[in-house]
Amino acid sequence: MPSTVAEVFREHADHPAERGSPLMQALLLGAAEDWDADGITRAVLDPYADDPPGSALPLRFAAALHRLVLTGQAAELAAHYPTVGGTEAPELAWHPARRVLERETDQVRELTGLPCQTNEVGRTVPLLVGLAEVAHRTGGRPLRLLEIGASAGLNLLVDRFRFGDVRGPPDSPCRLPAPGLDLDTTGLRIAERAGCDRAPLDPGDEEARLRLTASVWGDQVDRFRRLRGALAVAESYRVPVEPAGAAEWLTHRLAATHTQDTAVPVVWHSIVRSYVDPGEWQQVEELTAGVWRLSYEPDPGPNPRGVPLRLFCPGTDPGGEVLVHGTGHGPPLSPAARP
Ligand SMILES: C[S@@+](CC[C@H](N)C(=O)[O-])C[C@H]1O[C@@H](n2cnc3c(N)ncnc32)[C@H](O)[C@@H]1O
Repeated sequence: MPSTVAEVFREHADHPAERGSPLMQALLLGAAEDWDADGITRAVLDPYADDPPGSALPLRFAAALHRLVLTGQAAELAAHYPTVGGTEAPELAWHPARRVLERETDQVRELTGLPCQTNEVGRTVPLLVGLAEVAHRTGGRPLRLLEIGASAGLNLLVDRFRFGDVRGPPDSPCRLPAPGLDLDTTGLRIAERAGCDRAPLDPGDEEARLRLTASVWGDQVDRFRRLRGALAVAESYRVPVEPAGAAEWLTHRLAATHTQDTAVPVVWHSIVRSYVDPGEWQQVEELTAGVWRLSYEPDPGPNPRGVPLRLFCPGTDPGGEVLVHGTGHGPPLSPAARP
């Protein structure tokens, strides 16, 4: 278990996703070394030195720096951020980052205090596979999509996004890769959608948009473009996300389901489970036992195949059925192994 800030940052830099981001490597390893050398990083991160591991301190720190880049307050660092057109090597970002920390110490410290909140629209790629499967198995009946832990509600706009050349409005500003599987979405129709989150973000609010975009790593241009595209879609199509815990919200929402309703309720969630108290999660599983549920959550231990998309049919196997595997941010997908 890492105990110092430097150890937490080094361990985080070693996560598989971070290993694929030269910018995150440069920032996290540079900050760790600077912390050990009693550098400026101490003045920025010392108030958070005892934060619990789940509070994602390395990601909050990276988001604080990206935010200064996005708001034009860190020109020397922006040159290393492809998200704003920077063409200098992201691997060399640490020295300009340190200069920004020296100049903007108070601001970076304050921004690092904000909780990390993301809304990763790439996760709709595996979720779409599941939704198409539910539509197929329910004979093309319209679906009532209910998302718990929806953040800004962007993934509820799944049918407004364009997936490769196979699905969605061709002129959608949000363009995602096709799932790459033999996917039939002809019967898929979303009649109603709603979401909840313990701390929802309003995509119409400038501050919320900045928090979401700053949370994407500065060298992951595809993710950044997708998010911007989804935020543009949300300007025309708003899905209210209610401020509520998952179990409390599902209790009300599912009670409002009647046997004469034609729309089929489908509950979905992606990368939420680890944030929810185990007792509340148990309630979520009990409440959803009688409806379709799509779960895109990492397995508790390492899984070399990636993150499984599980389909839970009403009243069946509590382990669910794995349809595909993806990555923490969604694509690329790989088909599930046949039993
Ligand atoms: C990592 S984000 C994932 C957001 C979104 N599902 C996605 O895939 O982009 C986790 C979200 O779960 C929310 N959350 C955490 N605990 C919750 C709870 N008990 N009930 C509802 N939402 C919760 C957080 O506020 C956050 O927005």
